[in-house]
Formats: sequence, C-alpha cells, structure tokens
Amino acid sequence: MKVGSIELPSPFVVAPMAGMTDTGFRRLVKRHGGCGLVVTEMVSSEGLVRGIDRTLEYAEYTEEERPVSIQIFGGDPVKMADAARIVQDMGADIVDINMGCPVPKIAKHNAGCSLMREPDHAARVVEAMVGAVTIPVTVKMRAGWTDKDRNAPVLARKVQDAGASAITIHGRTAEQSYSGFADWELVRQIASDLQIPVFGSGDCVEPEQVVERMNSGVGGVLVGRGVLRNPWILAQAADLVAGRTPRAVSMQERGQFLLDYIDLLLDQREHEQQGFRHVAPGASQLSSPASGHQRWVINKLRALCAWYSKGLDSGSHLRVAVNSAESVSQLRHLIEDFFMTAPAAV
Ligand SMILES: Cc1cc2nc3c(=O)[nH]c(=O)nc-3n(C[C@H](O)[C@H](O)[C@H](O)COP(=O)(O)O)c2cc1C
Repeated sequence: MKVGSIELPSPFVVAPMAGMTDTGFRRLVKRHGGCGLVVTEMVSSEGLVRGIDRTLEYAEYTEEERPVSIQIFGGDPVKMADAARIVQDMGADIVDINMGCPVPKIAKHNAGCSLMREPDHAARVVEAMVGAVTIPVTVKMRAGWTDKDRNAPVLARKVQDAGASAITIHGRTAEQSYSGFADWELVRQIASDLQIPVFGSGDCVEPEQVVERMNSGVGGVLVGRGVLRNPWILAQAADLVAGRTPRAVSMQERGQFLLDYIDLLLDQREHEQQGFRHVAPGASQLSSPASGHQRWVINKLRALCAWYSKGLDSGSHLRVAVNSAESVSQLRHLIEDFFMTAPAAV
C-alpha cells in the first residue's frame, strides 16, 4: 500500500487522537507490530507558524515511528501551506489535514469539519499545501456536517482533484459526533469512486472487525478507540490476515504496556538524547521538565485508563484506582498489583 511516494508496511493505521496518541503511545503500539502508519494528534497550523512550544511538542515524533504523518488543522490556505512546509522541514513523511473535528472551538475558526461546509475553499487549502511541499498531502474528513448534508463523496473528489494523495473518511457526521455508527458503506462507495487510496475509520474494536472492514474494498483502516482499549489490535489484525490465530495478550503484558508508557512519558523532555526527536527548526529547546511533570504523567495515565480499562475484566477497579493515585510510584504499584498478580492466561 502506497500513499503518494510513501510505502506503508501495513494498511492498518493508528488514528489521530488529541490528548491520547502522543509519541510515547505511538512508539509502544508500533513496537507491538501490525502498524503501517501513525498519525500525530491534531496540531494547530497557527501554532506551528507562530512557533508556539506547546504546539511544536504535539508534532514531535521519533525515528522508530516512521512512517509518520503529522495532522494539522486550520482554515487559511496560506497559513496551512506555511505549516505544511514546517511539517516537511521536521522530516515528516506525510502531512494530513483535519477536516473532521466537530468541536466548536476548532470548527468555529473555519477549520476541522467546518471545512466540509465549504468544499471549494477546502479544495483551495489542499491545493495550497500540495503546491508548498513535496511530501504527500492527505485529508481526513467525516461523512458530512449534518445528516442532510452528507457531502463526503463530492468533497472527496474535489480534494483528489486538488492533489491529495489519500483520504480517510470517518463515516459519521459532525452533528453525530461519536453517537450512532460509522457508515462504512459510504466509505466503500467513495473508495470505489476515487483513484487515490481511501481509508476508513470508525467502530473497529476487535481485530476481526479491522480485517472485515479492510476486505470491504477500502485502501486501509484507521483504528482509534480500539487501539486505546487494546494496543495489540493492529498486530492481531495482521495475524488474522496472515492466517494465524491472533496473538493472546496476558495480563502481565497489558500491565507492562502501562509501565512502559509511564517510563516514556517520564523520559519525555528529560533524558532523551539531543537530536533523537524531530523538533521544528528554530523551536526553543524544551529543557528542564516542567514543574508538575509527574502530575502530567498521572493525568495522561488517567486519560488512557479510561479507555484501556474497557478492554479488561474488573476494568472499573483499575480506573477508580488510577484516578485516586497521587504519585507516579503509587501509580506503578497499583498497576503491578492489578496486572502482575493476575493469572498468566487471558
Ligand atoms: C479522544 C479522541 C480524540 C480524537 N482526536 C482526533 C484528532 O485529533 N484528529 C482526527 O482527525 N480525529 C480525531 N479523532 C477521531 C478518530 O481519529 C477516529 O476517526 C474516530 O474516533 C472513529 O474511529 P474509532 O471508532 O476507531 O475510534 C479523535 C477521537 C477520539 C476518541
């Protein structure tokens, strides 16, 4: 599977998820296998252009994550083209445009899914970016803004004509947010209409569903919440495709994932060697850890465990315990207690 000039080792992708798919999480998922591409959390084009540290941090990635796509949001073609250049200078393999975010904070600035309400303008954004960079430009959109206006087929064609190398459709409208179900028939139709690869997104929480969607005629499948519940889901889907029984994951391995995640979050900005991470040229170096770094790590674990616990027996106990942890060492102990003393087989 190729997106423009970029060869993906697998058609299964870690979907962009703001607040969740940071570099540490992406690295761990990638290490478990089956993953063809990771996409960063959405990053503000405005913040990139202005060189805001927090924004640049969201765009950071490490070499072991390649191929990597940096997703940006914004509505101004000139700024989006400038931001695409910055993304290219950071060494990313792909730059992705967010045309799916329904959150008013984003959508009211003519960005995210509100771009779907102005298809000609959306196409100009794509055109400007394609003219500014040599890396592939891709688009992630929804089915439409409302149920009465499911214009993804029209927009997808315009975006293709504007030079996009691939498209992802999350088959819900902005109005639906995350309610109801993703319309995979719509995704399949668009995939058969276009010449460029079309990826589908929505509601794959079991490896069998990932494979079933893949076989429905799309170019690839993005998995979001399913990866947060089960970071092995892409590897298990790859097992199925290869005719193998999907790998079993023990409670100990699940616990180790969280412990490794804590270590990577603690290391972030602290011990990683210079040059290991790809930061934008001119960005001020993020030096000493921010005060409250441990608090940040605890909050990241709370956010992940809200999803991770859904994939586990007695998951609610884990969630409650993690929410009450006051220090990283407490967090480690309760993870060890919950997972490491469990029976080995799952
Ligand atoms: C917590 C969360 C954050 C998300 N953030 C983004 C984002 O930054 N950019 C984006 O294009 N989609 C974002 N999405 C949408 C997902 O990429 C995906 O399309 C959607 O969740 C449907 O797939 P799923 O059912 O596999 O989760 C987010 C979804 C969730 C649950």
